[in-house]
Amino acid sequence: MEVKRIGVVGAGQMGSGIAQVAASAGYEVVLVDVAEGFLERGLAAIRRSLGKFLEKGKITQEAHDEALRRIRTSLSLEALKDADLIVEAIVEDEGEKRRLFERLGALAKPEAILASNTSSIPITALARSSGRPERFIGMHFFNPVPLMPLVEVIRGELTSEETRDVVVEVARRMGKTPLEVQDYPGFVSNRLLMPMINEAIEALREGVATKEAIDGVMRLGMNHPMGPLELADFIGLDTCLAIMEVLHRGFGDDKYRPSPLLRRMVQAGLLGRKTGRGFYVYDEKGNKIG
Ligand SMILES: NC(=O)c1ccc[n+]([C@@H]2O[C@H](COP(=O)([O-])OP(=O)(O)OC[C@H]3O[C@@H](n4cnc5c(N)ncnc54)[C@H](O)[C@@H]3O)[C@@H](O)[C@H]2O)c1
Repeated sequence: MEVKRIGVVGAGQMGSGIAQVAASAGYEVVLVDVAEGFLERGLAAIRRSLGKFLEKGKITQEAHDEALRRIRTSLSLEALKDADLIVEAIVEDEGEKRRLFERLGALAKPEAILASNTSSIPITALARSSGRPERFIGMHFFNPVPLMPLVEVIRGELTSEETRDVVVEVARRMGKTPLEVQDYPGFVSNRLLMPMINEAIEALREGVATKEAIDGVMRLGMNHPMGPLELADFIGLDTCLAIMEVLHRGFGDDKYRPSPLLRRMVQAGLLGRKTGRGFYVYDEKGNKIG
């Protein structure tokens, strides 16, 4: 099957990035969210990112304009009826995602492929809700999507090889490197990354070092481009907590117990860059100011 039209559900940090790389790769894109304000914020992020590529001479004015032209927005899932591939990037909540996939499974055209950008929720379970498990797959992009080369491709128990092949081809056309991993909690990326972030939060809670020192150790000693606490702010603390909970439940092992400090910060609405405050403080443009 040849993919021409891609639907993206959720216009947040990830969905807007996915819409951007899809449009830049030449696909017609429909981006859906639940409120106009979210769509506007998503489009603003896309304009900013494409603008930076243009400024740096990485794309031409024509490619910039064409990519923007290819993105339509909608508040209705009905707008996805013609899509060949629909990528879901809504909140990391299994119930929400299952409900969405029940609806998408019923309204998308029969041959369409449904994909989830979930960071950790079992693909096999989401596939079942969609009612089309053979044409369902995990397509896990990384943040910021326009810059990060990896897409983890996760087949559920019943995902067909054809579906995998189509999605691998789409990821390559977007300029990404797809790597296939099995459907286990957290896949590979978050099974390794999130316990490290959680441990950094525990180290902070225990007073082992200041947040700056914890991040500095990992940047200067391990050559990580960002320390784990900065990275947690960047990902979103709500998403980090949701992933730890999936790992904890999925493996039934207390080594994945979410840090109580992480839980408390999420309860307080300190979600990181997207709310202006997490471990650090950010201005409206997302620049760290404290
Ligand atoms: N943040 C990261 O670094 C990262 C990396 C890889 C994958 N992910 C995954 O991507 C997904 C989205 O994460 P994000 O960081 O973009 O979150 P976000 O909070 O920035 O955006 C989520 C968007 O989904 C919208 N939404 C919620 N429910 C919806 C529904 N039923 N229909 C349509 N839109 C709906 C919200 O309004 C919001 O705009 C999550 O599953 C997350 O685990 C995140």
